[in-house]
Amino acid sequence: MCGIVGILGKQAVAGQVVEALRRLEYRGYDSAGVATLEGGRLSRRRAEGKLKNLEVRLSNEPLDGLIGIGHTRWATHGKPTESNAHPHATEKLAVVHNGIIENFRELKAELEADGHVFASETDTEVIAHLVTRELDRGKDPIAAVGASLPHLRGAFALAFLFEGQEDLLIGARKGSPLAVGIGDGEMYLGSDALALAPFTNLIAYLDEGDWVVLNRKGATFYDADGSQVERRAQRVAAGAFLVEKGNHHHFMAKEIYEQPEVVGHTLTHYVDMANGVARLPFETPFDWKDLSRLSVSACGTAYYAGLTAKYWFEKLARLPVEIDVASEFRYREAPLPANGLALFVSQSGETADTLACLRYARQEGQHIMSVVNVPTSTIARESDVVAPTLAGPEIGVASTKAFTCQLTALAGLAIAAARARGTLTAEQEAAYVQELIALPGLMAQALTLESEIEKLARKLSRARDVLYLGRGTAFPLALEGALKLKEISYIHAEGYPAGELKHGPIALIDEDMPVIVIAPHDALFEKTASNMQEVAARGGRIILITDAKGAAEAGVVPEATIIMPEMDPLFAPIVYAVPIQMIAYQTAVFMGKDVDQPRNLAKSVTVE
Ligand code: F6R
Repeated sequence: MCGIVGILGKQAVAGQVVEALRRLEYRGYDSAGVATLEGGRLSRRRAEGKLKNLEVRLSNEPLDGLIGIGHTRWATHGKPTESNAHPHATEKLAVVHNGIIENFRELKAELEADGHVFASETDTEVIAHLVTRELDRGKDPIAAVGASLPHLRGAFALAFLFEGQEDLLIGARKGSPLAVGIGDGEMYLGSDALALAPFTNLIAYLDEGDWVVLNRKGATFYDADGSQVERRAQRVAAGAFLVEKGNHHHFMAKEIYEQPEVVGHTLTHYVDMANGVARLPFETPFDWKDLSRLSVSACGTAYYAGLTAKYWFEKLARLPVEIDVASEFRYREAPLPANGLALFVSQSGETADTLACLRYARQEGQHIMSVVNVPTSTIARESDVVAPTLAGPEIGVASTKAFTCQLTALAGLAIAAARARGTLTAEQEAAYVQELIALPGLMAQALTLESEIEKLARKLSRARDVLYLGRGTAFPLALEGALKLKEISYIHAEGYPAGELKHGPIALIDEDMPVIVIAPHDALFEKTASNMQEVAARGGRIILITDAKGAAEAGVVPEATIIMPEMDPLFAPIVYAVPIQMIAYQTAVFMGKDVDQPRNLAKSVTVE
């Protein structure tokens, strides 16, 4: 991950750089840094840990430059120390980088042999030295960058700042996104439009392999061959995404890793960050207070998102919720109450069964709301109101980021509904909103569990059947976990409410049966712990996904424990979805399956 920013301003830019970084912090918060030109001289401030540490540093040692770059880091190469924090610099330039330079070891060896001395363990620093070498050879900054980029293998979004160049920033992009923001006599670079949203919404995107030269009058774009190209600027509602794998092996992996980012984007539509309250991105043509019932229909993963939302709407908004899989609901001739709201959840917005339910609900006089990812889709067009998810295009057939974005939107809707229905106090609302705002950061932490999950996946790949158990909001996630594993690894898996175990499925337990228990330490944890005892007593192999408290109080010795960060259990499914998805992904990869295009499946199911 990592977030990058560059600003050519009219006034001191350090504050704006930090503001933009705050909007990118979900991409990483191991360290942060800013570089500006102070009287033409490069000056840096960097700090280990969260952005607030950098802010403290800047308030003690302010920067006044009118041009600057900034970075928030999610460490890949080198520990999250200050010396590894970006911007990396030589005497001639500073650079910030998002991505991974795969050939940095060879480049570093070559540059060291040329006398370059490195100050960090990062892959990024080679870029600074590579361009410096070209400057030393007599090239100007633009030619030096142009000559250096072809040497870099891997993925990068870059922003360069040069000593003595008060009206020049250079950006480059390969595999990692980079947006150019156009202001009034000011120019911007950012990892995404969201970072630049406080300053401008006139955005041009670099295409793959492009690089761009900025001054305060505008931007000149070059393609990978160095030919000047046009890149049209457009007014954007922040949130356009790449349809490429970046440096991941599969779209599914990329989409799992994108989740802190896209959940963050989605959140901005449901949460007023400044005031810490829920808000909706639309006017409701009904009063939440008057609603008699919420009827949810969806298919597959979208159905599990809806099932999770049932817990939220019932608990927070005290609104009765019915939910059904769309293929059943459409033919059931269910009576629907006056003043009912029918809610449809769909990534594609084209799923035939879900659309048929929508049309049935319309006939039955319901208000129609949809949570969709494709705003131009049929379901979106036929709805009274659309609650958008901002997952961007989901290419992997197995839904990942669309699911967590659906959950995020539904959580925001549930809080807004609760406020409107008067079932939450302002303090409770503020507390829940803070929990939502914390989600992208928690998801980023969950992504660091990959190597543990890889070990687990090796074992799971030998299983014939796997059981997933959960209670409360962990139950729909147990269903989703089983679906993910089935669809991409072809291992048979079932999800059950943990309390149902003794009503049948316990007969399956033996020493060959992995049982994945999803159990954040919530009010029901003790009950789930008893169910784990029942599994353990029958020789079952428990894989526990919990937090530190849950691990301490599990009362059994699991075969493996995945320890999640502490969080409010109510919205925990949004974060616990990450290891669930990674388990399925890693298992399927280990088994050599085609994870992005599993057999017999299609992404958008437009037939019954
Ligand atoms: C599973 C999966 C499917 C979809 C289902 C609904 O990983 O992707 O179960 O969730 O086909 O699709 P949408 O959300 O497009 O209506």
